[in-house]
Amino acid sequence: MPTVALGAIIGRSLAAARGRDCNLAAMEIHEVAVVGLGTMGAGIAEVFARAGIGVVAIEADEAALNRGLGILDASLSRAVSRGRITAADQAEIRGRVRPAAGFSAAAGVDLAIEVVPEQLQIKRQIFAELDRVCSPEAILATNTSSLSVTAIAAGTANPGRVVGMHFFNPAPVMRLVEVVSTVLSAEGVPDAVAALARRLGKTPVQVADRAGFVANALLLPYLNHAISLLDAGYSSAADIDLACTAGIGLPMGPLALLDMIGLDTSLAILEVLHGEFGGDRYVPAALLRRLVEAGRTGRKSGRGIYTYPGGADPRSDAGPGEAGSPPDTVTLIGSGDSAEAELASVLAAAGINVTRNAAHRSDLILIAAQAGRPVLPAALAAGRADEAVGMHLPGTLAPGSLAEVVQTSLSSPVAVSTGMALAAKLGLSAVLAPDRPGFLVGALLYPHLADAVRMVQDGYASAADVNTAMTLGCGYPTGPFELLDTAGPTTVLAGLEAMYDAYGYPSFAPPPLLAEHAAAGIAFTRRGAGPRSADATTAR
Ligand code: 3HC
Repeated sequence: MPTVALGAIIGRSLAAARGRDCNLAAMEIHEVAVVGLGTMGAGIAEVFARAGIGVVAIEADEAALNRGLGILDASLSRAVSRGRITAADQAEIRGRVRPAAGFSAAAGVDLAIEVVPEQLQIKRQIFAELDRVCSPEAILATNTSSLSVTAIAAGTANPGRVVGMHFFNPAPVMRLVEVVSTVLSAEGVPDAVAALARRLGKTPVQVADRAGFVANALLLPYLNHAISLLDAGYSSAADIDLACTAGIGLPMGPLALLDMIGLDTSLAILEVLHGEFGGDRYVPAALLRRLVEAGRTGRKSGRGIYTYPGGADPRSDAGPGEAGSPPDTVTLIGSGDSAEAELASVLAAAGINVTRNAAHRSDLILIAAQAGRPVLPAALAAGRADEAVGMHLPGTLAPGSLAEVVQTSLSSPVAVSTGMALAAKLGLSAVLAPDRPGFLVGALLYPHLADAVRMVQDGYASAADVNTAMTLGCGYPTGPFELLDTAGPTTVLAGLEAMYDAYGYPSFAPPPLLAEHAAAGIAFTRRGAGPRSADATTAR
């Protein structure tokens, strides 16, 4: 493994920042200290050790140290069992980790990274300790998710050497590292940390010190929106998560992800985002607060939105109830568009009798639903609204892809369960969605995409960096701007307009940049599509 030569890069600037001479010319990163061995700290320690770098693993006491080393050992054992590393590799990697219950062991490290809970006071105390024990040449990094790196740096003896080095959970897997510089950062220090991230096999994105940086500022409002929909009884937890995995292709649903990140951590990030930006999208959902107050912090405590192991859904009673039987005969109602044609062909392929006349007997009235158009008027026009549900196919018709079964306020429980059984017979994963703008997938996705557009519109980050942050930091199959182009700027705009009309939340108001792209017919990810295209700008 090559080592990162720091001397040439940061020597002059650190000396200048401290106003005294120091010779860093020969300095390389051989050893780091990781302070705090929770889930993230243990993962970060593993990443350094796997890259051949010695790790001093610091915790407050032996018990915490043993818990953290247990997380590290479990992760390495899993890698062995999957054949990713050998038992000999495991022993070598583990041999690079030197546990220590106290700060003095960090005296010789080249970089120390703090990975403790999101409380400024605690972080400041840790940096005071690091200031005291670490060599003056060492870089001090924080893995804070959202706190001000500037505030942390300003409390140290040498703010120039303090940067954010923000990893993503699970740290051994997610490829993004946000490197956060402040107005106090010494020239070259962020570059040196970015080079170190590359050496770890990660992709660094250099970002300014704003709450949530790029990835969390975009991810957390979306997660918050998902848990507010659960809280409002809009849909069940299982359906919200399925809408995002089967309907959008995300690796995890937002509620499962909240449990993985930790509900307490997520709440803390939202509070910081709300404090910095204000606005309805960052107000933490009441259910999030209540679960944290109850000690249900997610996977780490065995219970959050779901229960572990087992994944029981606390709101599964919001689902359709009794399992129904699929219909033999369906009355299909549409407006002669592609949504109707698609449904007609899958119904025919599944051998279901289809009639178009609502006066004929059938087991179900099926409205071919279109995003942005309510189902109820067509159900009323059919004259048998209690027997009607909508069906919306947001994605492709590959087996297992998603069907939204749309329940109007007049749909009977039998119609709902028959609609769900029909989707299963068609080989589709079904979620139950209310007859509201965006149904379920759009209700979750459109505001998230609007947030991404606003970030670019307001000069917060470039489209390319937003795409990188979400693909490499959160495992999205494509970036938000590619998702937006796939859905179509016009469709997303119409969905947001309908949501804004229905609810009036300022965050649902379509951003002007989206309206411009929709009006001009310009994709966001097309090369040369203008100064805001995904390839055109860089992070600020
Ligand atoms: N630790 C180490 N490795 C892990 C792991 C863990 N906790 N969880 C999964 N892995 C590894 C597995 O060993 C496997 O490795 P392999 O391919 O070498 O065999 C690989 O990841 C895939 O794991 P699985 O097959 O078990 O499971 P999935 O394919 O379902 O992937 C996932 C799991 C990687 C967690 C995937 O669901 C994902 O990408 N989810 C999104 C995660 C995300 O969004 N993270 C960012 C959260 S925001 C954040 O962290 C910022 C903070 O400030 C809040």
